[in-house]
Amino acid sequence: MENKKVLEIKELMKNDLVDSVDMNKLNDLKVKYLGKKGLITLLNSEIKNIPNEEKKEFGMMVNELRNDFNNYYENKKQELESALLNEKLSKEAIDITLPSKKIKRGSLNPMTRITEEFEDLFVSMGYTVFEGPELESDENCFQKLNLPKGHPARDAQDTFYLKDEVENYLLRSQTSTAQVRAMEENIDKGPIRIVCPGKVYRRDEDATHSHQFMQIEGLVIDKNISMADLKGTLEVMMKHVLGEKTEVRFRPSYFPFTEPSVEVDVTCFKCGGKGCNLCKDTGWIEVLGAGMVHPDVLTMSGYDPNVYQGFAFGTGLDRMAMFKYGIPDIRTIYGNDLRFINQFDRKDDE
Ligand code: DAH
Repeated sequence: MENKKVLEIKELMKNDLVDSVDMNKLNDLKVKYLGKKGLITLLNSEIKNIPNEEKKEFGMMVNELRNDFNNYYENKKQELESALLNEKLSKEAIDITLPSKKIKRGSLNPMTRITEEFEDLFVSMGYTVFEGPELESDENCFQKLNLPKGHPARDAQDTFYLKDEVENYLLRSQTSTAQVRAMEENIDKGPIRIVCPGKVYRRDEDATHSHQFMQIEGLVIDKNISMADLKGTLEVMMKHVLGEKTEVRFRPSYFPFTEPSVEVDVTCFKCGGKGCNLCKDTGWIEVLGAGMVHPDVLTMSGYDPNVYQGFAFGTGLDRMAMFKYGIPDIRTIYGNDLRFINQFDRKDDE
């Protein structure tokens, strides 16, 4: 009689389980069969009404029923969960054809930009980038460049000396000091072709002069170097930086470490040479100093001027950046104001 009840519940359970199409229904069934008042649970309390000889069989049937339910429950649960996961995964499929979110790239300081522009050009012409220290000896910065102590041309570079070194060391006032270092490091190693960009220091401060600024120095030492090589090089350089239409002219000048020396002008990039307020109606703008390395400078650094010649040039990178990017006040370059720097944001094609 009681066994019949077990069979009935078994039958009912079979039908119910077919309907358990989602987790909610499945859990409802768990309550219905195995909950506190669940059909299978209640069967346990019937055991006391069952004659002793049938108890064992009844017990086994109830256990079997409970195991059936549990097995079914576990399998179905796994099946439903993995179906759910698959559905989620297929919905969340990543569309790799969608354009990605733009990541804002930082800006390069205009000085870094212009320095890289010069370096790239010169490296492409076989030069190496040479770096010298910012703390330099008076000997390298001046004496070996033909500016002995007391030379009046030192006044133009009134600079920062270190007191306790008996004024023999200073923050370099010109990258021309790299000429001395490059020559002395390369004696007997063949021709020299270097550019040296870097910081220099002078006791200056106004809209177009800062106590710290940047120069780039160029030096070529070889046999059979002439002023034509210098002019050709500077033409390539200025066209690269300021545009193909730029023309270059030499004016005689004086620097203690070059002979002959020239001041180099370029056609005004604002008016194209017609005359405007930037070029003070001359059509030309002065951009750098240059010349043939003075025989005494070659000799002092160990080169025989009868065998070797060279040219050198030096220019202010800040000045170049100011021209190129239209920056009116040199101090903004070093001011760390983001409104200024952000104007140099990299474009995607850079
Ligand atoms: N050093 C010079 C200055 O700071 C610039 C210069 C002039 C460099 C002539 C040179 C040069 O190499 O040949 O004013």
